[in-house]
Amino acid sequence: MDAGLNIRKNLGTLFSSAVKDAFPSIKDPLIVIAPSSGKFPSDYQCNSALSINAQLKTEGIKTNPRDVALKIIEKIANNNIIKKTEVAGPGFINIWLSETWVASSVKELLIKDVEPPKNEAKQKIIVDFSAPNIAKEMHVGHLRSTIIGESIARLFEYLGHDVLRINHIGDWGTQFGMLIAHLQDRFPDYVTVSPPIADLQAFYKESKQRFDEDPEFKKRAYSCVVKLQSFEPESTKAWQLICDVSRKEFQKIYDRLDIKLIERGESFYQTRMEKLAKQLKDDGILEEDDGRYVLWGLNKSITIPMIVIKSDGGFTYDTSDLAALKQRIEEEKAERIIYVTDQGQETHFMLLKSCAEKIGYYDPSKVRFDHVGFGAVLGEDKKKFKTRSGESVRLIDLLDEGIKRAEAKLEEKGRRDDMTPEEFDIAKTAVAYGCIKYADLSHNRVHEYVFSFDKMLDDKGNTAVYLLYAYTRIRSIARNAKMTPEQLKSAIETTAVAVEHEKEWKLAKILLKFYEVIDTINDDLCPHHLCEYLYDVACCFTEFYDKCYCIEKDSTGEIKVVHTNRILLCEATAQVMSKCFHLLGLKTVSKM
Ligand code: ARG
Repeated sequence: MDAGLNIRKNLGTLFSSAVKDAFPSIKDPLIVIAPSSGKFPSDYQCNSALSINAQLKTEGIKTNPRDVALKIIEKIANNNIIKKTEVAGPGFINIWLSETWVASSVKELLIKDVEPPKNEAKQKIIVDFSAPNIAKEMHVGHLRSTIIGESIARLFEYLGHDVLRINHIGDWGTQFGMLIAHLQDRFPDYVTVSPPIADLQAFYKESKQRFDEDPEFKKRAYSCVVKLQSFEPESTKAWQLICDVSRKEFQKIYDRLDIKLIERGESFYQTRMEKLAKQLKDDGILEEDDGRYVLWGLNKSITIPMIVIKSDGGFTYDTSDLAALKQRIEEEKAERIIYVTDQGQETHFMLLKSCAEKIGYYDPSKVRFDHVGFGAVLGEDKKKFKTRSGESVRLIDLLDEGIKRAEAKLEEKGRRDDMTPEEFDIAKTAVAYGCIKYADLSHNRVHEYVFSFDKMLDDKGNTAVYLLYAYTRIRSIARNAKMTPEQLKSAIETTAVAVEHEKEWKLAKILLKFYEVIDTINDDLCPHHLCEYLYDVACCFTEFYDKCYCIEKDSTGEIKVVHTNRILLCEATAQVMSKCFHLLGLKTVSKM
C-alpha cells in the first residue's frame, strides 16, 4: 500500500512491519502513531510498546515496555522518512522526521496541487442529503443537511469515488391527495393554465382545513391519493404542478449555495414499494398489527418496528426507505450509503439497516451504511431557531440577511472603495454564504449549535471571514515579491522548500497533516476536523510570517531580497487552504 504523503500512515506501515518482525506471535498488534503532544521535543510518537508488552505478558513472556520499544526500533526497515527514534519515559517511542523528506513532500504537494491520496479503491458512494418536503418550507434542519451533505460529497469526489448525490424529497403520501383535490376545485383549468399557488404553504393549510372539516372533501382526497399512486394522468399532472412550485423554491437555495443534487424523491419508489411490500407479505415476514403490516428488525434493542403497509393499504416513509435502500444496493451497486439527517432520525435509520439485513438484501460486510446525524440549530437565546415573531425562519430570508450583513461588514472595513462593484459583489456573496456554511461545519455535527451572524462574521477566531482574509493575504505574497506566475513555476521546480527555521518546520509538517485529517473524515464523516485543521494552518502561518521574512525591503521600500524557499511555503499553504475551502463548499476570492 502506498501511504503517499500521509505521515501517520507511512509511520504506521513502518512500525507495523517492525512489530511483526520483532514479535511474530502477536496477532493484529495495535499501532498508535500520533503527532507529539509537545511534552517531548520529537515530531511524532508511537505508544504501542506498552500495549504490546501487556499482550506478551498474557502469553507468559516476561519483558518490559522499554525493552519492547527498543526491539521495535531495531526492526524498523531502512527508510527516508525517519531521521531518528528514541525511547522515552516508560516506553514511548519518539520519532523525528527527516527534513529532506518533509521538504520534498511539501514540494510534491505543491507541484501536484494537493493531489488526492492514491491508495483509495474507487467506490460507488451514495450521499442522501438535503431532502426537503414538497408543499412545506425548507427549514434550517434541511440547511444543515444540505451543507454537511455537500461537504461529504465533495470529499468523496476529491478522493476519486463515483458519487451519487441524491435528494430524497418528500413528494409522496396522503397529504398529496388533499392538495390535489383542493387544486382541482380552486383551479379547474390547472391542466392548461399554470395555477397561482406561489404561496404553497397557505394552499396547504387551506386544503388541510377542508380535509379536517368536510367529510366529502376527505373522501375525494383519499380517492385522489389512490389515483395518484396508480399514476392516473390528471392527478399526476396536478401533483407535478404542486411539486414544481416547491422545486423552484428549493432550486433558488441550491443555486445560491452552489449545491448539486439529483432529485429522486419518495415517489420514485412507488412501483418498487408495491413489489417489495407484496413480496414481504407473501413471504410472511410482516406482522399484522391492527390492520397494518409491520416489520421488526434483527436488532432487538430497537423496540419499534417499521410500518410497511398502513391500514388503508398505503405506504409510509419507512416503506420508501426500505425500497430505496434495496434499489441503491441492487440497481446502483452502491458500496457505501450515507444518510444526512437530524439526530432525531437515528433510530429510523438503525431500524432501516436492521430490517434490510433481516430481509437479506443488505450485507454489512459488503456495503457500508452510515447515518450522519446532526443536532438542532438554536437561536441566540439558546432556544429553537425562530424569527422575532416566533415563526420558523425562511431560508431565503436567512440568506438575504447574510448578504446584507456581509455587505455591511465589508463596508465597515472600507472595502467598497478599493474594489470594483463586481469584485465587491463577489466578495460579499463569498463572505455571506461562506460564513453560514462554515459556522455550521465548524461545529461538531452531533451537537446543536447557536446561529449567530455576529459570531460568524467576526474577523477574529475560527470563522470563515478570518480564514478567507488570511487566504487572500497569503495569495498576495508572491505578487508583492513581484514574482510572475512563470517565475513561481520555475522556482517550484528548482528551489527547495524552507524547513530550517523552527516556524518553517512546524508549518511544513502541518501542511502534510492535511492527508491525516482527510483520512479521519473519510471514516467518521465529521467535517469539523477540517475546519479545526484549516484554522491551525492559518495560525501556524501567522507565526511563521511573523518570524520569517519572505521579502526584505530597504528604507525606500524597494525589494532587496526575496526568500524564494519561503515563498514556496506560502504557496503550499495557500494551496492546502484552497483545497480545504473547496471541500467545505466555500468560494475563495482574490480580493476582499
Ligand atoms: N424528507 C425527510 C425530512 O424532511 C428527510 C429524508 C432523508 N432521506 C431519507 N432517505 N429518508 O425529514
